[in-house]
Amino acid sequence: MIFVTGGAGFIGSNFVLNWLKEETNSIINLDKLIYSGNLLNLKSLKNNPLHIFVQGDIQDRALIRKLLNQYKPQAIVHFAAETHVDRSIYDPTPFIQTNVIGTLHLLQETLDYWKNLNEHSKNHFRFLHVSTDEVYGSLRQQDEPFKETSRYAPNSPYSASKAASDHLVRAFHNTYGLPTLITHCSNNYGPFQFPEKLVPLMIINATQGKILPIYGDGLNIRNWLYVNEHYEALCLVLSKGKPGEHYNIGSETEITNMDLVHTICSILDDLKPNSPYVPHASLIQFIKDRPGHDRRYSIDCSKMRQELGWKPKENFKANFHKTIEWYLNNMTWVEKVMSGEYRKWIQLHYKETS
Ligand code: NAD
Ligand code: DAU
Repeated sequence: MIFVTGGAGFIGSNFVLNWLKEETNSIINLDKLIYSGNLLNLKSLKNNPLHIFVQGDIQDRALIRKLLNQYKPQAIVHFAAETHVDRSIYDPTPFIQTNVIGTLHLLQETLDYWKNLNEHSKNHFRFLHVSTDEVYGSLRQQDEPFKETSRYAPNSPYSASKAASDHLVRAFHNTYGLPTLITHCSNNYGPFQFPEKLVPLMIINATQGKILPIYGDGLNIRNWLYVNEHYEALCLVLSKGKPGEHYNIGSETEITNMDLVHTICSILDDLKPNSPYVPHASLIQFIKDRPGHDRRYSIDCSKMRQELGWKPKENFKANFHKTIEWYLNNMTWVEKVMSGEYRKWIQLHYKETS
């Protein structure tokens, strides 16, 4: 049994779905179901006895204690978080509550549980904290990619909260010996991503003839990794990673936001040649930049390659094609998640352009 937090969100639900396809080990999935978490993502597991879903908050120590003692997991994979940088700029408070206090409470209960395991279980137990490359800050064009030894320099309230949680995880390893692992992944794309994030927002807006809002000059650089590749990397870290270590995960291809949006538009032109919005790129509009917008991320995954034998497969075009087709074929999912909360956010954030 493994214990997953945030398993109804984008990366968490893809992790749970993939795990239950491959593994016989069951999952207890604790998720508060905030706006970005959705049980629709896990619909295919409805009658699967290997998936136990509990709606709850990672800040709720009594609930975590009860679940740990009841299900006795051999690992925790911690995805639950507030994750959208733009929202953290409007209001950092929930980011501190969930990402920092929530992680602390989870660590405290995990420590109590772990201390009482027998020697064998104690040695094999792992706490995997899913962090981000954003904790390393922003790179200039001439800078070397982020390594695990790069200095922390978070720039947004979101990345600052993730950095704080990383430090707590590290401290629980160093102080109490809890066998922790920390991963830093670059931007993910794939099915079930909440459409406030760049990729699904662009796909959905383009199919509906809405503007494609690009911040600033569109030359910010990200490295996009298909979510299933992230899953494979996490499984390797869980089974072979060394407690106390950090691992960078990601694509090593650097793409500007503008090039990415053009790629999405040209795939859509091919998939929907009769759409009234062809060429979809004509919907692109440059809008006010994100405050403190990180210019460039670039991730060095040589540690994953050398120590765990993982490398990104980099079939970017094919995976983007697959992802766009997924959104086009799952418009019911799209409509359902674009609820009142979604519309409220879009109106607040893009009010000058929509
Ligand atoms: P997401 O926003 O899609 O999902 C987050 C999930 O956490 C949701 O299901 C939500 O309901 C749940 N949650 C939020 N607050 C909670 C709380 N207090 N208690 C319990 N559950 C709570 O996020 P995602 O994109 O799937 O990201 C998952 C993790 O991966 C995060 O920790 C994020 O920092 C990290 N990450 C994301 C990316 C990316 O590109 N999306 C890249 C690197 C790392
Ligand atoms: O790097 C990993 C991180 O990737 C994760 O830790 C975060 O949880 C995840 O949200 C993501 O952060 P980004 O800020 O990079 O992702 P987002 O999809 O919000 O934006 C990607 C880029 O696109 C970024 O440079 C901002 C830009 N953008 C975004 C939106 C929503 C636009 O130009 N227009 C938009 O409307």
